[in-house]
Amino acid sequence: MKALVWHGKEDIRCDTVTDPEIEHERDAIIKVTSCAICGSDLHLFHNYIPAMMPGDIMGHETMGEVVEVGSGVNGKLKKGDRIVVPFTIICGECEQCRRGNFSVCETTNRNKKIAEKVFGHTTAGLFGYTHLTGGYPGGQAEYLRVPFADKTHIKVPDSLSDEQALFLSDILPTGWQAAVQCDIEPDDTVAVWGCGPVGQMAIRSAILLGAKQVIAIDRLPERLSMAEAAGAITINFEKESVVGRLNELTDSKGPEKCIDAVGFESHVSVAQPDSVLDRAKQMFMMENDRPHALREAIYVCRPGGIISIPGVYGGFSDKIPMGMLMNKGLTIRTGQTHVNRWTDDLLQRIEDGQIDPSFVITHTMPLERGPEMYRVFRDKQDSCVKVVLKP
Ligand SMILES: NC(=O)c1ccc[n+]([C@@H]2O[C@H](COP(=O)([O-])OP(=O)(O)OC[C@H]3O[C@@H](n4cnc5c(N)ncnc54)[C@H](O)[C@@H]3O)[C@@H](O)[C@H]2O)c1
Ligand SMILES: [Zn+2]
Ligand SMILES: [Zn+2]
Repeated sequence: MKALVWHGKEDIRCDTVTDPEIEHERDAIIKVTSCAICGSDLHLFHNYIPAMMPGDIMGHETMGEVVEVGSGVNGKLKKGDRIVVPFTIICGECEQCRRGNFSVCETTNRNKKIAEKVFGHTTAGLFGYTHLTGGYPGGQAEYLRVPFADKTHIKVPDSLSDEQALFLSDILPTGWQAAVQCDIEPDDTVAVWGCGPVGQMAIRSAILLGAKQVIAIDRLPERLSMAEAAGAITINFEKESVVGRLNELTDSKGPEKCIDAVGFESHVSVAQPDSVLDRAKQMFMMENDRPHALREAIYVCRPGGIISIPGVYGGFSDKIPMGMLMNKGLTIRTGQTHVNRWTDDLLQRIEDGQIDPSFVITHTMPLERGPEMYRVFRDKQDSCVKVVLKP
C-alpha cells in the first residue's frame, strides 16, 4: 500500500510499504477514506520530538471502512462499519480508561519502559507518534491496523460526510477539552493563543460553552478571519501588543481563562529576551521548548484564572514564571486529549448541526501529494489551515 513515511528531519515521502495485517485478536484493519495532517505532525516533521525512526508511518487523524476484524473484537465492529479512529489507542479496561483518562491508558503503549523513563509513568499508545508512545504505524496511508479496535473507534452514521466526522479523531475533542478545562462561566473572557485548527475548535467550543467574549490571537490574516467568523475578537500579535489589547478588552483585569493552542514552537513578533534565549538553548539542545505564548498567557491571566494548554510540549521548558503562577493562584490544566471522553457528545452535536468542523478544511489532496502538503501547511502557503488527504 501507499503511506506517508518519515525518513528524517523535513523528509516525508509517499512510499510503497507492506499492507498491515491482523496481529492480535482485538485488531481491526480499516481502508482509509480520509486522513489529515495535524499541527502535532509538524513537531515530528521538524524532528523536535525524539524517538521517530526512519520508516515510521505518519498520521493520527484517520477514518475509514472496516475491512477485517480479529476474533477478539467480539461483534463491536464488523466489516463495512464506518469508523473514525481516535489518535489515542485505548484498552477501555485499565484504571485510567475507567476514569475516562484515555490519553494515559496504562495498557496500550508497547514501549512502556521508555515512557516510564522519560515521563515517570507510561502514557497511552498513539498512532504515528514516535516510539515513546508505542511506535504504532499511523493512518496517513491506504490501510491502518487499529489495535484494541473493540474500544479504539468512534462509529459514524452514513448521514455525515467524512469531512464532518474526521476531526472527531483529534482536533475537535482537543479544542473542546481545552475549553471544558476552563470551567467557563458566563462572565468569562477566554483568550486563545493560536488560531490553527486546534485554536479554531477551541474558539468555537468556548463560544458554545457560553463565554462572554472570546479573544483569538495569531498573526495570519486568514486564520484570524476564520476566528472572527466564529464570533471572536482578534489580535494580530505582529501588529498589536497582546498584553495591552487583552487588558484593554477586559477593563485592565486580564482574561479569566487562557488557552495555549500554540505549543512549544511559539513565534514572536520581534525578538524578545526570552525568545532569543529559547532559540539558542534549543539549538544547543539545552531546552526542548519555546514556550513564549505560555509565558505571555501566565503574565496576562487574571488572578484566580485558569491556563488550559492543549498545545504540545516536548520536554523541558525554561523560564516558566512560577512566581506569577503561584502568587496569582492560577490553575494549569493540560494533556493529550482524552478523545473518547468527549466523542459521543460531540458526534451528537455534529448530527444536531450545532458544530460542523469541516469549516476548517482549506485543502483536499490525494495522499501522494502529502509530502508537499506538509510543507504547504507548515509554511502556511496558499492560506492553508487544514489539509485532508484522500488515499
Ligand atoms: N493536546 C492534544 O491532544 C493535541 C492534539 C492536537 C494538536 N495539539 C497541539 O496543538 C497545537 C496547535 O495545533 P494546530 O494543529 O492548530 O497547529 P498549527 O501549527 O497549525 O497552529 C499553531 C498556530 O499558532 C500560531 N502562533 C505561533 N506563535 C504564536 C504566538 N506567540 N501567539 C499566538 N499565536 C501563535 C501560529 O501562527 C499558528 O497559526 C500544536 O502544538 C499541536 O501539537 C495537541
Ligand atoms: Zn493531532
Ligand atoms: Zn486503558
